[in-house]
Amino acid sequence: MNNKQELRTVWWEDDHVCLIDQRLLPNEEVIVYCQTLTMVAQAIKTMQVRGAPAIGCTAAYGMALVAYQSTANDSDQLMQQLAEAQTTLNAQRPTAVNLAWATRRMMSLAEQIQAQGVAPMREQLLNEAHTILAEDLAMCHAIGAHGAPLIPKRGAVLTHCNAGGLATAGYGTALAPMRTAHAQNRPIHVFVDETRPFLQGARLTAWELHQAEIPLTLITDNMAGYLMRRGDIDCVIVGADRIVANGDVANKIGTYSVAVLAKAHNLPFYVAAPSSTIDLALAHGDLIPIEERSVEEVTHIGTYRIAPEGVQAAHPAFDVTPHELITAIITEQGVIYEPFGAGLQQHAQRLMTPIN
Ligand code: MRU
Repeated sequence: MNNKQELRTVWWEDDHVCLIDQRLLPNEEVIVYCQTLTMVAQAIKTMQVRGAPAIGCTAAYGMALVAYQSTANDSDQLMQQLAEAQTTLNAQRPTAVNLAWATRRMMSLAEQIQAQGVAPMREQLLNEAHTILAEDLAMCHAIGAHGAPLIPKRGAVLTHCNAGGLATAGYGTALAPMRTAHAQNRPIHVFVDETRPFLQGARLTAWELHQAEIPLTLITDNMAGYLMRRGDIDCVIVGADRIVANGDVANKIGTYSVAVLAKAHNLPFYVAAPSSTIDLALAHGDLIPIEERSVEEVTHIGTYRIAPEGVQAAHPAFDVTPHELITAIITEQGVIYEPFGAGLQQHAQRLMTPIN
């Protein structure tokens, strides 16, 4: 991959789904070839692919793969196979709503075109997955355009986790305003939380920004407060896994702590996400399912054990930032301020298939 080349996170090649294995970055750039639905589901579960929009795109291709490989005699049988695939894919990661949004969109299309028969369904479902990917990339660029003007003049931005090109079809959500500002030759310096325990910040965000030649400083998560107090940070921009009706936001564990710190230091706290991340079916953040992951990801760094054998550990993989702590939500359609309800409704309305 060249420095300036846009990253590819997930794509279709010949008759299968390809992914860059994000567990191995930045040390190895390995492509995963998913030949079966089980492989796609596993890739999502094990975080070979991760980031809310990226797992949505991957799930869409998973559905397309099922249709592509199907030997169904009729479209009823294919619909049954697709429904099973939807259930399998949705079960892999519960917090990021983009996954269920994407599989629902694929099912809606399948229902609409079922009468045409199996062969056209195959073709159109694959095209739909391509469209979801292309739309996601376009949405990220639009988020960049809407978000860049919000970055204060000095350009010192803190981000948490990885909401970059790797977490999307490309370009990113939280990183999009920084990329756009950088492309406009504005000063930008990104403070990157390492993001324990999976280290998406240290491994992925630092890698992406470095490739893009955007100046960065990597910090451990517990340094953010000190840097804010010292006046090193101008604003915070993070991504989202689910934004619910009142503006509460689920994102990577640790995001809530950063939002509290930003409030305490009077710094703007922005959330950047495509409107496929909005879930109006949930009234507030306490209703968002929070994924619990293996505690081995906490007791170990990679395969290296850092805690004594036998100690109890916990691993909630996400937290919820209440809307009171959020300055604005940036989507591809513009910037939403408090009270968030009306704006979120407007932006979500343009979605083709809201989650039911
Ligand atoms: O567990 P992950 O790595 O999938 O979590 C990713 C995040 O929390 C991102 O911030 C979020 O999905 C937004 S990605 C554009």
